[in-house]
Amino acid sequence: SGKRIGRALTALGAAALATVLAVGVAPAASASGGVGAPGIGDPYYPDYGNGGYRISHYDLDLDYQPGNDHLAGTATLTGVATQYLTRFDLDFALTTDAVTVNGRPARFDRSGDHELVLTPTRALHTGQRMVVQVRYHGIPSTVVAEGFTSWMRTDDGAVAANEPEISWWWYPSNDHPLDKASYAIDVTVPTGYQAISNGILAGRHPAGHGTTTWRWRESRPMATYLAVLAVGHYDLDTSTDAHGRPVIEAYDQGLSAAHAKNARASVGLTASVIDWESSVFGPYPFDALGGIVPNHEAGFALEDQTRPMYGLDFFESAADPYVVVHENAHQWFGDSVSVHHWSDIWLNEGFAGYTEWLWSEHTGAGSALSVALADYDSHPADDPLWSVKVGDPGAKHQFSDAVYDRGAMTLQALRNVVGDRTFFTILRTWASTHRYGNGSIPQFEWLAERLSGRDLSQLFDTWLFTTGKPPRSAFHLPAG
Ligand code: ARG
Ligand code: ZN
Repeated sequence: SGKRIGRALTALGAAALATVLAVGVAPAASASGGVGAPGIGDPYYPDYGNGGYRISHYDLDLDYQPGNDHLAGTATLTGVATQYLTRFDLDFALTTDAVTVNGRPARFDRSGDHELVLTPTRALHTGQRMVVQVRYHGIPSTVVAEGFTSWMRTDDGAVAANEPEISWWWYPSNDHPLDKASYAIDVTVPTGYQAISNGILAGRHPAGHGTTTWRWRESRPMATYLAVLAVGHYDLDTSTDAHGRPVIEAYDQGLSAAHAKNARASVGLTASVIDWESSVFGPYPFDALGGIVPNHEAGFALEDQTRPMYGLDFFESAADPYVVVHENAHQWFGDSVSVHHWSDIWLNEGFAGYTEWLWSEHTGAGSALSVALADYDSHPADDPLWSVKVGDPGAKHQFSDAVYDRGAMTLQALRNVVGDRTFFTILRTWASTHRYGNGSIPQFEWLAERLSGRDLSQLFDTWLFTTGKPPRSAFHLPAG
């Protein structure tokens, strides 16, 4: 169920704390020897996130120089130790200058290319509040971690947006969707530049020496990879939606006339798309909306919380409402309800993919069923699409087409079996019971079975946990 114990206590954190409470007050040393694990326990990415603590709030105070890509800042992380800790890690790839833990200087060492090992002068006990402050700097575009250079430079600035690896290039974190937190992101840039991030724009004020500070606030729990930063020369289109929420769309001023036209005709639909999605999935979970279109062919779009980033690739020749439908569907499926482990990625991409087919149905371009069957028929049995197990695709195939296409077909098959009424009840109940938290594929299966009163194990096994093209009968098409 979606019952939450406190804010950041996910299943894992709750279990850890429950164990501790059963044992009593933390002993001087624990089984782990007081060392926080270097990873949170994700099978695809063993060293992503960390063990031993949870963060509930990030306060980022950054200074960025677009001319030379120099980023300097102070990150203040507030959280709680979930075990006795003499040492713990953060995930980070820039140069660290100083660290304090609960106000006292802490020792810091680098481990690998994106791990920072902190040794506080005083150990933390289980349940103790912790405030970790990291002062740092670097030139993010020059930093390679795990072979990636995820920080994107544009003509006149930069964009931090990617999945799952992006935070290492701009702020230290417990980098995994299991540990979600609220954010305050203050970015100082030369006056005349814009700095865009998540949530509400709380203010923008002169900061001396020809600079301006932009203050962004995201009050709802957010996964680390969904924090976005774009700096450059942007036109900000701001308005208010029918529910009084700020709509902030940022279009790079360097876009060609055609790109700008197509981008605005697409991202400009955000408020109406979200209204429609709210009618299908239940209330929009956040208090701001919008989008960011940098002058950059990123090769992808990303569902950054409240403010997706759209690579220019989507707006080359025409408007593309589908990508806007997709990224905003993720606000429910991915952002509000986040994966438990990255192997649960079907819960993000299959659902956002299927929402595109629902949009086709909604706008009269063809029913979701007809799109699903056309997609199915267009991939012959020997197409590599059918070689991926979308319920556990492996890190390499996390974002392969199969997760999107076969993933969306899975939902069509489910809809055919349980009927429209139950199907949409399942989607809405999933969004509401796991809101602001996490969900796993087994939890979704359990919910679908409970709400439909059916044994759906064969359906999910066929579509999610086997490879090979399923027979057409696996769609359970209505007779006639
Ligand atoms: N979640 C994104 C989307 O479907 C995909 C991001 C994939 N990342 C990448 N670097 N290609 O909308
Ligand atoms: Zn997606």
